[in-house]
Amino acid sequence: MDYKQAGMEQRTIEIASPGRINIIGEHLDYNDGFVLPAAIDKRIRLKLMANGTQSRCTIRSKGFEGVLEVDLYSLAPSNENWHNYILGVLNELQKMTQSVKGFDCEMETNVPAGSGVSSSAALECGLAYGLNALFELGLDRWQLAHLCQRAEHTFVGSKCGIMDQFASLMGKKHHAMLLDCQSLAFEYIPTPLDPYVLLLLNTNVTHNLAASGYNDRREESAAALALVAERFNVDPSYRNLTLSMVDDCEDALGEVLFRRCRYVLEENKRVLEAAEALKKGDLARLGELMYLSHHGQQKKYEVSCNELDFLVDLARGEEHILGARMVGGGFGGCTLNIIHKDHVDNFVAKAKTAYERKFNIALTSFVTVPSDGTALQ
Ligand code: GLA
Repeated sequence: MDYKQAGMEQRTIEIASPGRINIIGEHLDYNDGFVLPAAIDKRIRLKLMANGTQSRCTIRSKGFEGVLEVDLYSLAPSNENWHNYILGVLNELQKMTQSVKGFDCEMETNVPAGSGVSSSAALECGLAYGLNALFELGLDRWQLAHLCQRAEHTFVGSKCGIMDQFASLMGKKHHAMLLDCQSLAFEYIPTPLDPYVLLLLNTNVTHNLAASGYNDRREESAAALALVAERFNVDPSYRNLTLSMVDDCEDALGEVLFRRCRYVLEENKRVLEAAEALKKGDLARLGELMYLSHHGQQKKYEVSCNELDFLVDLARGEEHILGARMVGGGFGGCTLNIIHKDHVDNFVAKAKTAYERKFNIALTSFVTVPSDGTALQ
């Protein structure tokens, strides 16, 4: 029975689901490494209503044109990219349970898309979390994170790691999270940054490479790992490699794979050191590690771009900024800056002028704080 047609009241729930930043540890989640993300105070809000039908779903988004109408019994990828995040989640839920029924969804977001702060995980996790609550599916947060990750692999085509879905679902106000992507153990680390704040500068570019480059890096790091692990007869996990093992394989790896492999091990060390620095309140060291991290992403893992490098270089010259680096998959998106709160306005104005003069693209910015994960409203 269609509740609307029958004039019946629809059960409604509302969810807010955040994007994320990553303080340090990029491209390590799919390499058995450590990452240090936090959910942010930019969120997608979804209103979900069971509509009484078996399988008819209608999804409206304020940020996107048009309405997505879906039948749960005939799910297939679409040519419209944002549809695929939704279709992928529905497809995974259908594989796990037959308990999702027809629903209507309205959503609105202030998470900037294509900016390295994972508007995609915010959407996937918000929808999965909401349907789990609405239809009482009984899935826990880890099950939701994994099904959202699979949705991205199958319907979107990005072979992402688990960091974004984890951060969106597990975020905690005023905390970052040190996640061991091998064991999935994690700890919350308080982030008392005052008088410093987290400033994001958005290049407002997403280079074409973003999708293909991501999967390429994944393949390259896996190929490099396989070679070194075989040479030393260890199980193929970056956890089993040391820098000296990698150095011994320099010729066999060749220049590119050598750089990728070194990056993974070096960045992993930086994450652990950064987590310690954060615990001790040593923000100066944390900032230095962020600059080193960016250098690795620029020169060794090669996931940065001119626009990001320009903004990080600009930050380096500022005494009131402790550290800066690109966040997320790279090839565009945002830089994250740890900056003294009294100097945000000046720096943003300066960066805007310099960036717009150089690239003729508008620079946007926002200050954020570590925030709670996906939740009912
Ligand atoms: C994207 C992916 C994540 C992670 C980052 C890079 O955001 O979705 O899984 O790999 O890139 O750290």
